[in-house]
Amino acid sequence: MSLIHEIDYGTPASKSEKLVTLTIDGMKVQVPEGTSIMRAAMEVGNQIPKLCATDMLDAFGSCRLCLVEIEGRNGTPASCTTPVADGIVVKTQTERLKQIRKGVMELYISDHPLDCLTCSANGDCELQDMAGVVGLREVRYGYEGENHTKLGKDESNPYFTYEQSKCIVCNRCVRACEEVQGTFALTISGRGFGSRVSPGMDEPFLSSECVSCGACVQACPTATLNEKAMYEIGTPEHSLVTTCAYCGVGCTFKAEMRGDELVRMVPFKDGKANRGHSCVKGRFAYGYATHKDRILKPMIRSSIHEPWKEVSYEEAIAYAASEFKRIQAKYGRRAVGGITSSRCTNEETYLVQKLIRGAFGNNNVDTCARVCHSPTGYGLSQTYGTSAGTQDFDSVEDSDVILVIGANPTDGHPVFGSRMKKRLREGAKLIIVDPRKIDLVRTPHVEADYHLPLRPGTNVAIVTALAHVIVTEGLVNEDFVRTYCDWEEFQEWAEFVAEERHSPEAVQQYTGVDPALVRGAARLYATGGNAAIYYGLGVTEHSQGSTTVIAIANLAMATGNIGRNGVGVNPLRGQNNVQGSCDMGSFPHELPGYRHVAEDDTRVLFERDWGVKLDDEPGLRIPNMFDAAVDGTFKGMYVQGEDILQSDPDTRHVSAGLGALECLVVQDLFLNETANYAHVFLPGCSFLEKDGTFTNAERRIQRVRKVMAPKNGYADWEVTMMLSKALGYEMDYQHPSEIMDEIARLTPTFTGVSYKKLDELGSVQWPCNEKAPEGTPVMHIGGFVRGKGKFMLTEYVATDERTGPRFPLLLTTGRILSQYNVGAQTRRTANVAWHPEDVLEIHPHDAENRGIRDGDFVRLESRAGSTSLKAVISERMPTGVVYTTFHHPITQANVITTDFSDWATNCPEYKVTAVQVSPSNGPTQWQEEYEKLSRNSRRIAEAAE
Ligand code: SF4
Ligand code: SF4
Ligand code: SF4
Ligand code: FES
Repeated sequence: MSLIHEIDYGTPASKSEKLVTLTIDGMKVQVPEGTSIMRAAMEVGNQIPKLCATDMLDAFGSCRLCLVEIEGRNGTPASCTTPVADGIVVKTQTERLKQIRKGVMELYISDHPLDCLTCSANGDCELQDMAGVVGLREVRYGYEGENHTKLGKDESNPYFTYEQSKCIVCNRCVRACEEVQGTFALTISGRGFGSRVSPGMDEPFLSSECVSCGACVQACPTATLNEKAMYEIGTPEHSLVTTCAYCGVGCTFKAEMRGDELVRMVPFKDGKANRGHSCVKGRFAYGYATHKDRILKPMIRSSIHEPWKEVSYEEAIAYAASEFKRIQAKYGRRAVGGITSSRCTNEETYLVQKLIRGAFGNNNVDTCARVCHSPTGYGLSQTYGTSAGTQDFDSVEDSDVILVIGANPTDGHPVFGSRMKKRLREGAKLIIVDPRKIDLVRTPHVEADYHLPLRPGTNVAIVTALAHVIVTEGLVNEDFVRTYCDWEEFQEWAEFVAEERHSPEAVQQYTGVDPALVRGAARLYATGGNAAIYYGLGVTEHSQGSTTVIAIANLAMATGNIGRNGVGVNPLRGQNNVQGSCDMGSFPHELPGYRHVAEDDTRVLFERDWGVKLDDEPGLRIPNMFDAAVDGTFKGMYVQGEDILQSDPDTRHVSAGLGALECLVVQDLFLNETANYAHVFLPGCSFLEKDGTFTNAERRIQRVRKVMAPKNGYADWEVTMMLSKALGYEMDYQHPSEIMDEIARLTPTFTGVSYKKLDELGSVQWPCNEKAPEGTPVMHIGGFVRGKGKFMLTEYVATDERTGPRFPLLLTTGRILSQYNVGAQTRRTANVAWHPEDVLEIHPHDAENRGIRDGDFVRLESRAGSTSLKAVISERMPTGVVYTTFHHPITQANVITTDFSDWATNCPEYKVTAVQVSPSNGPTQWQEEYEKLSRNSRRIAEAAE
């Protein structure tokens, strides 16, 4: 296995369709108009020396190393900044050019520490390479003059160093931060000889605006910005391309290894989701995979009050199987079930639902998508016929108007957030619908044209009001609607939204949004060109989550913003494989490919292939499993890769349900909070240790590749297979590719998918079948999957969760860039440097009314429970609304959230909880008890070790 080297063409590719022919060093070259001479030369394998150019960034032309001669033109222009022209004749290797380049290199080297042999970038340094390429043999200026070689090193960032003495001031880092990441954290301070790269106002990286995305490190041609792991482990020797296991963007990385140690994750330029970019999580926060907290041996105990006993896999599996069988014999076939994970691969998820359906003999399978994007599945399949987003991420490059509802892309989906910001800097217009002033409302070089700061819980009212303006002001795209949608249903819908009670003026009483803003935003969305909608959990996690998804779908149809590049309806998926876990049949009413368990033909298809009789009755959803457990009719559960105690709402109810189980099997990397109630613990396997696929928010199926052996001995899919066999239902796969072959055989949208194809194409977006053998980047082109697009009425029904004298504020929740979900992984990395604890954001007026100062401990209380955490006073919040994240178990925001949920899918209403906030002296009683319980669990686990 060798190190994968991606070619650097020096400047970005031109998108022009017009071709230009020129001659470079006697060779005829044909390239798109707008291509640089440097890139044209690379296309024919002629690498012109360069230092300040890289194909991730626009050309800058500062280093003067890439000079060329052009017949008939004076001077020696820089090939990176000079575009090709028809018929020109270019020379890249004349004696004059060689002398100039040598002179340039001499100047650089005379001001550079000569410690190549001990440098962390030895063998991975473009300055070193270029010295060789230009044939540098001596430095005439000597090393004694004034120089920068004694400058210090900034080691404040946990993951990379900034060694100023090695900086050649090529500006690549500054441009990467601006062009690729869009954070503008770096500048060149000083002038001339005094010019230096400076984070923020000449401060350490850690306290600057830097978000540690790594783009500057990636861009730096020297060891100035370098991963600390390069110092600690050494330069990598081999690499494999794999997919990030954090969010639904699905960035691909080269996992660069030295022996069996992971040195670094380098974003893959050919990755179609990330195009060579990354965020702090995927790029740096992988240390959890080798964290000492990982449990590597199976454990069992007959009661949750007993210490864990370490056992062999055989014993643990046999014990779990015998318990499940005992429970089914005593309480019935449907008394057991399981939960699949959106963190696991498609193949693993598929096997868990197959085990439940085949071995347990019921449909009691659900997934964590229940608590995030189940309304997306419902709403989009009802209106368009497919439970997925309509576009690929590239599509945003063609958007003229971007409408973001209930999503915070710069924190939740950072790499896509950066791509979106780039398009906004190019001139696209932006509408934000969110109670908070999220970063996108105003961030360097980006400002929202409209920010609609609605009251949490009023999405349906606001989106229907947007539709009201579009219909009543004659902004409907009638041609589109007549051609592609059901015209009668449209008319009924148009009449409904046109009612005065849906006008922006009428709904202001609920939404609190200035009607003029709503009218302006609606006009912009309908008339501003290609308009795309991106939404997140701020849409779905409501009692009317499905209704809002439908309202969004209506809006796109009414304006014809569907079925081409630059438009569409795009759910930003939370976890890496939420899309995949839904596709794989994780819901209790659907077999893989979203086919209802009651459909005889579908069941027969699976029964024949699986060789087992299937239940035709939908099973229990997650909340119903807990209800049934509390009622005493549901007694056993297999949970793979989920910490439901922390991630599900109404923690008290969840713990009551878990506590009532007679057999809980948890399969995870760590002894998580749910494992406090488990009887069997099966060690999980990290994404670095297994083969498989993830499906991202674009429906893009990408390979996960094993870069190291499973530390716990088995991949998760192998453990599921063992458990199934012990239950009497044998599965026999030698490799996950065989599981994918079965998925393809049984799922119409996957029939063209195979590992071979994924290896050839890099990735495919489903549907991938006979009609679309290379996948489908944009859906609903030339017609909707369901036939005619379906308009549906979206009556606003206020949530039952109301504020009142006891609970006068509304709590809404979300995530932060550096932490991920319940924090099980990111809390075990140096990312805690940015977010060591959850905090409560509160508006200054609300804080002042309660005598709360910035940093005070406060008690946050709802009718469901209370917790305490520190307050951060923030003008990002509107008055009456407070906000927190849910990354730390000691805070457990879900102690506060209620049991209200989406009417169609039971997705919990995380985003609206009536609360009171008051000053407090410290942790609540349950937090103290929790600390004791966790300490206890840790002690028991340590004793078991
Ligand atoms: S790590 Fe990212 S945000 Fe930080 S300075 Fe570098 S490019 Fe900018
Ligand atoms: S830190 Fe690296 S990329 Fe930035 S200017 Fe210096 S050498 Fe260039
Ligand atoms: S944006 Fe998401 S997929 Fe990409 S590196 Fe960050 S966490 Fe991973
Ligand atoms: S690479 Fe062209 S001027 Fe630096």
